[in-house]
Amino acid sequence: MKVIVTKNTEELAEQALQVMLDVVKNKPNAVIGLATGSSPVGLYKKMIEDCKINGTSYANIKSVNLDEYVGLGIESDQSYVYFMNDNLFKGIDIKQENTNLPNGKAADMAKECERYTALLNSMPQDIQLLGIGANGHIGFNEPNTPFDSTTHIVELEEGTRRDNARFFASLDEVPTHAITMGIANIMNAKKILVVANGANKAKAVYQMIKGEVSENCPASILQKHNDVIVVVDEAAYSLCK
Ligand code: F6R
Repeated sequence: MKVIVTKNTEELAEQALQVMLDVVKNKPNAVIGLATGSSPVGLYKKMIEDCKINGTSYANIKSVNLDEYVGLGIESDQSYVYFMNDNLFKGIDIKQENTNLPNGKAADMAKECERYTALLNSMPQDIQLLGIGANGHIGFNEPNTPFDSTTHIVELEEGTRRDNARFFASLDEVPTHAITMGIANIMNAKKILVVANGANKAKAVYQMIKGEVSENCPASILQKHNDVIVVVDEAAYSLCK
């Protein structure tokens, strides 16, 4: 696991951009695994800027996202499909048909889980971007999710719903369930890039980097992957020193 500690979120986004560009430029038809939430927003801004200024092209890139809320779709500005269009896809030249997210509104969610895992198996991620939850979750794989899990439906922990309530009008509006790539699907990526900032992530970052590998902290499994780059700010790294 390679760890890069940055002074601030600006530098964090810049370092993460270099990791992403290394993949995209070396393999113009790469499959990039993407995440939502606050952590990747700075990186996405930089990808858009770089695409416009330096002409980096995503025309042949395919993307797969980690997760989606059950019950939400593109018409909801809280959905992850909306978030991705708004924060990244509309600003780069990726083809809409090459972008993939689990469908939170599928009529049969069990079938949707199967479909998404089959899709991931047919196009393994050259890089998977991850944020980390304060409880150590990756994707929406909450503590005690089996390491061999594939795409599944998860009941969100109360703390996760509270953490994400900032994006909704009230806590009651935060969905109770999500569909997420499993930990095995994440570990199948050739390279993994984790971004985390802020003191509220310090404990999870410590457990991910230095803690025991245990299903109590899903991110700790990343210690077993052979190509992980963690880009954090000082606050998120503070307990690792
Ligand atoms: C998002 C996701 C989550 C977040 C994590 C951190 O697609 O799968 O694991 O990465 O909850 O969220 P933020 O970045 O909002 O602190």
